[in-house]
Amino acid sequence: SFSSLPDAPVDEIFSLNHAYATDPNPNKVNLSLGVYRTEEGQPWPLSSVEQVEQELHSQNNPARHEYLPIEGDREFLDHARDLMFGFNKNDTDVEKEAKAKKRIASVQSISGTGANHLGAAFLAHHLKPKHVWVSIPTWANHHTIWELQGIERKGYPYFDASTCAFNFEGAITTLENEAEEGDVILLHACAHNPTGVDPSKEQWKKIAELCQRKRLFPFFDSAYQGFASGSADEDAWAVRYFFNLSPPLEMCVAQSFSKNFGLYGHRTGAFHLVTNGSKPAETELVRKNLCHIIRGEYSMGPRYGSTIVKRVLGDSALRAQWQKDLTAMSSRIKRMRQALYDELVRLNTPGSWEHIINQNGMFSYTGLTLKQVLTLRNEFHIYLLKSGRASVSGFSEKNVAYVAQAIDNVVRR
Ligand code: LMR
Repeated sequence: SFSSLPDAPVDEIFSLNHAYATDPNPNKVNLSLGVYRTEEGQPWPLSSVEQVEQELHSQNNPARHEYLPIEGDREFLDHARDLMFGFNKNDTDVEKEAKAKKRIASVQSISGTGANHLGAAFLAHHLKPKHVWVSIPTWANHHTIWELQGIERKGYPYFDASTCAFNFEGAITTLENEAEEGDVILLHACAHNPTGVDPSKEQWKKIAELCQRKRLFPFFDSAYQGFASGSADEDAWAVRYFFNLSPPLEMCVAQSFSKNFGLYGHRTGAFHLVTNGSKPAETELVRKNLCHIIRGEYSMGPRYGSTIVKRVLGDSALRAQWQKDLTAMSSRIKRMRQALYDELVRLNTPGSWEHIINQNGMFSYTGLTLKQVLTLRNEFHIYLLKSGRASVSGFSEKNVAYVAQAIDNVVRR
């Protein structure tokens, strides 16, 4: 019998999203789940993605429901890798790049969670780290994923509550003094979830130097490439910097297409394990071992989303449209940050609110306390995470004054 099972935690993000959906109040505002919403609060299929969908529906392709290979769609994987690591640019040194590509074993994943899981499963088996270091705070699912692999989690300070900025000194000192050779360091490639606070380029360089010197294993989670700044290159800066270090570093990247292609429910992603390139046969060995895990767990990734991504990335007109779509999403989010900030300043709300415009990507760590968050939910029907994380795309021109007024109200109590 299973009656003595320990209770399992309920996922806060999805349960809050459900609580919002079932709230009958007409003024309700959803700042919970990290999904893009339009000014009208609606989901937004990207124009580039819709064009491909129409194309796919108009074709009579009898192979459209067939299995993919275990590793996934090879063409999709090449595009995903090139986007992440910055290959195939105009100024490319072809020979150097061919060598660099050979360092990377890429497989399709069940989006970002699946890529994180695959990486954790692979490393738990084959690297056997003593610890995985996660930022405090981090996306709650990072904890679950590594807990399920039985790897001890340790935290490095990340968020400085007094400045609402990155606690670089705290992070670097803890890792310097406490991380052990072979430990995994989980890093958010850009648009840190939940804080929206990223290291500067100079700080990234110091983190990379530490990983190299102490032989730590960097594990990048990249869920917002192009979505955060509007530029896929800019948002991949840290990953590419680590990748191009000399001597080369072993590392891995979990790549999600949920946000930057709006393909949330289609679970589209890739996992890239980067070898140091010293042994030519190693990459293929890694790829085969990843395929072994995939086959035993879910056979292969899903077809629909990866077909869309490969079409968009492989066609210059669609790719240009995708760039416009990214700009549309990232700029609306930036406008909403500014709008919230302006309202709070206009209301003279006690406290400092610059961090709302300085933070990056989907989320803002507002600095609101648990008590304030609960009052916002219970009295004003505004849903944000207990930590004070707000999904900025839940704001619109229509609700931002209402939310600012409510924040002002709870802050003054
Ligand atoms: C979030 O953090 O809200 C998103 O990344 C959705 C998720 O899977 O948690």
